Amino acid sequence: MRACTAADVELLAALEPAGKNYARSTFRRQEHGECVLLVAWLGTTPVGSGELEWSAVPELKNLRVAERWRGRRIGTALIGAAEQQSAAAEAMEIGVGQDNPAARRLYERLGYAPTGRSETFSYHYIDNQGVRQAATEAVDYLRKRLGSASPLI
Ligand SMILES: CC(C)(COP(=O)(O)OP(=O)(O)OC[C@H]1O[C@@H](n2cnc3c(N)ncnc32)[C@H](O)[C@@H]1OP(=O)(O)O)[C@@H](O)C(=O)NCCC(=O)NCCS
Repeated sequence: MRACTAADVELLAALEPAGKNYARSTFRRQEHGECVLLVAWLGTTPVGSGELEWSAVPELKNLRVAERWRGRRIGTALIGAAEQQSAAAEAMEIGVGQDNPAARRLYERLGYAPTGRSETFSYHYIDNQGVRQAATEAVDYLRKRLGSASPLI
């Protein structure tokens, strides 16, 4: 579990569908001090990532574990790593889609509670087949007070 390095970024980009450009653009934002791209590795294979956005209350975005590795506590470890990175802040937030109750249960189990704030986003993304898609997502924000960050596994 580590912050993306210059040496990692080309490998991550090579695994993305053509045109997605997520790893490179997020790494550029990391270099500008806007976020940290946390990546979970099993040996030399990247198996998950999350983007910790530096705002007044740091926010973990785009948490994702590769499908075949889900349910093995990699997501929990990424959240723990983000909490350690955010240790100087009072709290950390995670936004979760209203259509994603399984992820929400995980966050609540780790101590995240609803802030009462919700937002609806419309955006475009490149799917796994490299096709540009439009989506609208209603997101609820959950927050955890820090000071007792979950340990890394
Ligand atoms: C949500 C996600 C990051 C969790 O990572 P993970 O490594 O599977 O999570 P962990 O192993 O640490 O924890 C497992 C818990 O995650 C939850 N979960 C959510 N989606 C899951 C999935 N597709 N497969 C397995 N567990 C999932 C379950 O509630 C599970 O809890 P349980 O152990 O009580 O059954 C991962 O499942 C994922 O990438 N999902 C698709 C993308 C997504 O929904 N991202 C969240 C955006 S807010």
